[in-house]
Amino acid sequence: MSITSARGVAFASAVAVIALASQAQAQQNNNPLPPGDGRDIVSVACSQCHYLGTIAKIRDGAAGWRVYVSNMVLRGAQLTPAEVDKVVNYLATNLGPGINLPPPRPVALPDGSGKQLVETRCALCHDLERVAAVKRKKQDWTPIVANMAAWGAPVTADEAKTITNYLAANFGD
Ligand code: HEC
Ligand code: HEC
Repeated sequence: MSITSARGVAFASAVAVIALASQAQAQQNNNPLPPGDGRDIVSVACSQCHYLGTIAKIRDGAAGWRVYVSNMVLRGAQLTPAEVDKVVNYLATNLGPGINLPPPRPVALPDGSGKQLVETRCALCHDLERVAAVKRKKQDWTPIVANMAAWGAPVTADEAKTITNYLAANFGD
């Protein structure tokens, strides 16, 4: 091999390395997940079957994220138990209730005691359309609000009661 062609090969592989690096960079730039410890594992393990944006737009507490991630492992996500903990920790830390939510579409709630609690506590993981869109039976609100508290809605027992009464009065038959 002449010196010139050896330099040519070195040049060509340097170009290839730069091309690969900028491809990786582009993927990083397109990655909708927020920076944080564990983002790399999530980016690899969770992009096998769906777009990462699906994950990035959801907010949930650690308990809720663990349910999602366990479901995904059942479906075939490749994660060791230690990696599951890391992924859940990343998701709960960076995509927890209320973190960097896109501006919600405003939903006008009727006045009443409990309105402000619903506005501040119930729009942290999904918008209020989910709350106000469907009329339910009055008694349905008790288990729904309890379920939301279990998912991680930050409410005391008294606040849950106020919210339940407000929703039953305004969105219950
Ligand atoms: C083996 C394929 C596969 C992998 C890997 C996978 N998922 Fe999924 N995921 C699915 C399928 C299929 C659905 C839709 C069915 C459903 O909602 O149960 C889904 C749905 C979801 C949803 C619900 C979306 C919604 O709008 O309700 C979330 C959140 C989610 N995945 C998160 C993750 C996370 C986090 C990871 C990485 C730990 C992951 N997924 C890896 C297959 C996968
Ligand atoms: C920590 C995140 C979180 C918070 C905060 C939260 N929710 Fe939810 N909500 C969820 C998730 C996840 C679902 C979908 C899973 C389910 O239905 O169990 C959901 C679904 C719902 C639904 C549809 C459920 C159904 O049975 O039709 C209603 C209604 C609702 N939430 C109301 C509320 C109210 C009221 C509050 C405030 C007390 C609230 N949410 C706060 C996570 C949350």
